[in-house]
Amino acid sequence: MIQAIRGMNDILPEETPAWQYIEQTFQILMARYGYQEIRFPIVESTDLFKRTIGEETDIVGKEMYTFEDRNGDSLTLRPEGTACCVRAGLERGLFHNQVQRLWYMGPMFRYEKPQKGRYRQFFQFGVEAFGLSGPDIDAEIILMMARFWKELGISDDIRLQLNSLGTSESRAGYRKALVNYFKQFEDRLDEDSKRRLPTNPMRILDSKNPDMQDFIQGVPSLFDYLDKESKEHFETLCQRLDDAGLIYEINPRLVRGLDYYSRTVFEWVTDKLGSQNAVCAGGRFDGLVELLGGKSTPAIGFAMGIERLIALLETLKVMPAFDQYPDVYMILIGEKAEKVGLLLAEQLRTHLPRLKLLMHVGGGSLKSQFKKADKSGANIALVLGDEELANDSVTVKFLRADQPQKIIKQSDLKAFLVDPKNR
Ligand code: HAM
Repeated sequence: MIQAIRGMNDILPEETPAWQYIEQTFQILMARYGYQEIRFPIVESTDLFKRTIGEETDIVGKEMYTFEDRNGDSLTLRPEGTACCVRAGLERGLFHNQVQRLWYMGPMFRYEKPQKGRYRQFFQFGVEAFGLSGPDIDAEIILMMARFWKELGISDDIRLQLNSLGTSESRAGYRKALVNYFKQFEDRLDEDSKRRLPTNPMRILDSKNPDMQDFIQGVPSLFDYLDKESKEHFETLCQRLDDAGLIYEINPRLVRGLDYYSRTVFEWVTDKLGSQNAVCAGGRFDGLVELLGGKSTPAIGFAMGIERLIALLETLKVMPAFDQYPDVYMILIGEKAEKVGLLLAEQLRTHLPRLKLLMHVGGGSLKSQFKKADKSGANIALVLGDEELANDSVTVKFLRADQPQKIIKQSDLKAFLVDPKNR
């Protein structure tokens, strides 16, 4: 049997209500804050990700699904949305003297080692705001996420970690200091860190290796290398968050795994999901539009992993119960009843657009159809057989209440079903 690709999940009918709930809650929130949806392709030129995320990162170095199309062009399944969003906005002239507040949702692809909370196809909600350089948009975005957690009922179990990476110039100074620092411990660095030392020393700070934690704790602080404007930006952001009563932790070792960040970076983490603890992450990428050939355009955004979010809601038992049951199951006995029943069901759906009516299809005995009606979870069954057809009626059976059955004229059925207590 052909099976799904490792690390790529089917989302089954019993799971989709949770997805729809999260999606709808997110979409409503976006509209409330004035963010508009953008959709871009799942496949882009490989160069787009190499240039933006960075050649030395794990994502570009070892996690991309890259292939040649029939024309010999190198294409990649998007590992994230920020690069795509910038590409689309630039190409379509969205950034020219304009502020854009955008959001997107969809699958991303990374060839990572699959485990709980880490998949090769996973879904993200993403937000990117363009054309705003001040810390006020950083604060808006962070408070918007905090509201989302609150509305989902998870705010007690998700913490905000904040840092500033400064500008690329101030970071260059810090990088030098880091290299000097780590050189002292060169023989104790693990393979990954040795490889990163000359190319991307800041990523060493992100190492999960317990043997490395000792000397990672002692690294010089990035704050000491921040330029004046970045420092002020960060202080104002913290002040705004304080004013709003939002609790956060400053984590000077938070560096993020993609190269395009500058100034503010943040992660929302939880202790409830094991090692894959980042539910949402992002930051400023003030240089990215220019890097791709546009005019200098400040920008900030984030993305959250929807699988992790759902897992968190389930672990915390705050996922609402979803009613997927039909209101009515229509039982049809005999060919003539099937013919009349199809039209009757259509009429009811026309007149009662909110009614959830499941019509039996495929024939079978009264008994077997009742079994299916019962299993469907519907409250009532409408039975249409020869007798009912002879006098234009239907029999109403109450499947969940101890109530005698009723015979109702077909012409009165609508009035009967309008009343929710009859369903
Ligand atoms: P990221 O940190 O690579 O950032 O991913 C954001 C979130 O996506 C993570 O915090 C996690 O919840 C989820 N995620 C990442 N990889 C996986 C995986 N293999 N399986 C399940 N979930 C995963 C970005 O993607 C940036 N584009 C965020 C951003 C937007 N920065 C600025 N704008």
